[in-house]
Amino acid sequence: MNFNDKLNQLKDLFIKDSTTLSYSEIKKKYSGKGSVVDLLTDEFKKLSSDEKKDYGSLLQEVKKEIHEFINKKEEIKVTKKILDVTAYKPNAKRGHLHPYTHITRKLEDIFISMGYAIHSGPEIETEYINFEALNIPADHPARDMQDTFWLNIPGFLLRTHTSTVQIHALKQEPPIAIFVPGRAYRCEATDASHDVVFMQAEGMLVGENITLGDLVGTLKDLFKRLLGNDKIRLRPSYFPFVEPGLEVDAQCPFCKDGCATCKYSTWIEIAGAGMIHPNVLEKAGINQDKYNGFAFGMGLTRLAMILYGISDIRLFQSDKLEFLNQFN
Ligand code: DAH
Repeated sequence: MNFNDKLNQLKDLFIKDSTTLSYSEIKKKYSGKGSVVDLLTDEFKKLSSDEKKDYGSLLQEVKKEIHEFINKKEEIKVTKKILDVTAYKPNAKRGHLHPYTHITRKLEDIFISMGYAIHSGPEIETEYINFEALNIPADHPARDMQDTFWLNIPGFLLRTHTSTVQIHALKQEPPIAIFVPGRAYRCEATDASHDVVFMQAEGMLVGENITLGDLVGTLKDLFKRLLGNDKIRLRPSYFPFVEPGLEVDAQCPFCKDGCATCKYSTWIEIAGAGMIHPNVLEKAGINQDKYNGFAFGMGLTRLAMILYGISDIRLFQSDKLEFLNQFN
């Protein structure tokens, strides 16, 4: 058997072993002192200079292949160790909920327990649903209060309030009881108390013989469970989609005689509300001989700011961990 045959034999053996032997067995057999490669190299050294010329590069090639194979295996082994997804790491840091999620879940729990369904709706809306259907015609001054992000598609916008979801829900046959937390958008300059996107929550109940008393009772129940106190103050107000319209205040949960949070009034403004305007029900095709209802809207962002003592609205959208970690 000449040296060439021995080299080919080694190659064949290695190919076979690489699929049947373990990594450490291969390493032992093919690399380092006393390995088959080592022995063959010793034999090579004894060849004549002509033979060395013939077989030198071939031997180097085979050695290189074996070496690369062993190295690659080692690499895979090391990577496997680093990426051991089953490894248990005690005291690992876990993520936690955003303050919006905390307050949304709290409110959802309260309304679900009162029999309300949680609804959501599109954030891209039509002008009709955001305004007309809610009794805000094109020339209505209330449109100026809700600075709008208009889209490039005519007639489409980013919803300026979650009241839009009333219109979607009114396609059902009453009774309808929905609670709708969600984002709203206003095209205005940002500062500590204004942001272009913020959270609102809308509530609506439509059924038979619904009264203002039902609305007050519902809000009292909400305040009691959210703030621990059901004291409520109603002030007459105006919103195009309700009649009569009210501004709803809760007693400040932080003081008895006035503090910075309630601006020394002992009351905090929580919601706008009222009995759904007949024009809204008519446009939605609701039989008003049978059904009526109430609606209310809350600034969920504002509520979170009050309850958690957050002084700058922009923190909600920031990536500041010092802020977010407080809600762990
Ligand atoms: N959509 C109003 C806003 O964005 C809030 C509101 C007020 C909703 C009165 C209502 C309501 O349902 O009855 O300012």
